[in-house]
Amino acid sequence: MKWALVTGCSTGIGRALVAELRRTGWGVVATARKEEALADLPKGPDLRCLSLDVTNPGTIEAAVEACSDLELTALVNNAGYGQMGPLELLKPEELRFQLETNVVGLHAVTQAFLPLIRKSAKLGEGRIVHVASVLGRLSIPMAGAYNASKHAVVALAETLRLEIGREIPVIVVEPGAIQTEFRNTLVNAWGDLPQRAEGTPYFEPIDHYRRKRENFAAQHGMTAIDCARLIARAMNKRRPPRRVIVGRDSRLGQWAHRLLPMAWFEAFMRRSYRL
Ligand SMILES: NC(=O)c1ccc[n+]([C@@H]2O[C@H](COP(=O)([O-])OP(=O)(O)OC[C@H]3O[C@@H](n4cnc5c(N)ncnc54)[C@H](OP(=O)(O)O)[C@@H]3O)[C@@H](O)[C@H]2O)c1
Repeated sequence: MKWALVTGCSTGIGRALVAELRRTGWGVVATARKEEALADLPKGPDLRCLSLDVTNPGTIEAAVEACSDLELTALVNNAGYGQMGPLELLKPEELRFQLETNVVGLHAVTQAFLPLIRKSAKLGEGRIVHVASVLGRLSIPMAGAYNASKHAVVALAETLRLEIGREIPVIVVEPGAIQTEFRNTLVNAWGDLPQRAEGTPYFEPIDHYRRKRENFAAQHGMTAIDCARLIARAMNKRRPPRRVIVGRDSRLGQWAHRLLPMAWFEAFMRRSYRL
């Protein structure tokens, strides 16, 4: 059986992808920071659950060791979260931890599992999937840390593809809004941002963001299972696509960013975010 390791399977896209990959014949190594978060996954010979925190080198090393008996041919770097906040108020440590998780963690996991994928996969059969975002191709206000992290993920994927892409295809996933836990985690990661914003010009835009945009994914986003289906479909193709743009909002946003004069695009963004 061919196996795929997925990071961040406690909820959301990662969780949905475990089911979808198993449904299409893969063995799945489901990983999460807390292994207990995986306890409700249906058991089977095609599932192995491991604890893996992408910011903790010890857990990455232990996960590689625990997979050494498997024909691991695919890695899906899905784990991540969104650090919001206007750049003027963003603490350097908030930016640092965002990059540590979404970028450095993804790189560390990729580097650690590459030898195993090389050993198990025939030429062109391996898959490395980086879950980036539409915000890896364009930027929105009040999400500078997250925008920067996802632009970096796209750059890492494109560089890796130049370096090893003929041997192991590299797929970048660029979702728009997806219905997951992402927006709850995002509000947790804010910490005391609303208090920090009091008395600044950002108070009203942040308040507006909280009231309106938190519900955006629930109202307009694609379901996690539909997103997972598109990722699995790309992984299952004999010649996988380089990019998987997920959702009409991602496609439309990228199209507008490419074709509209920058001044128009910026004016639209500022208006949408009340800046
Ligand atoms: N939802 C969207 O609208 C959207 C749009 C574009 C891109 N994305 C990207 O899609 C990916 C999955 O997010 P999601 O929407 O499915 O959100 P989610 O439901 O919040 O899932 C995120 C997963 O990442 C895990 N994670 C966070 N930090 C981690 C760490 N240090 N080590 C290991 N795992 C960690 C979380 O685990 P815990 O439960 O332990 O926190 C959780 O399992 C992320 O990379 C996100 O940036 C999401």
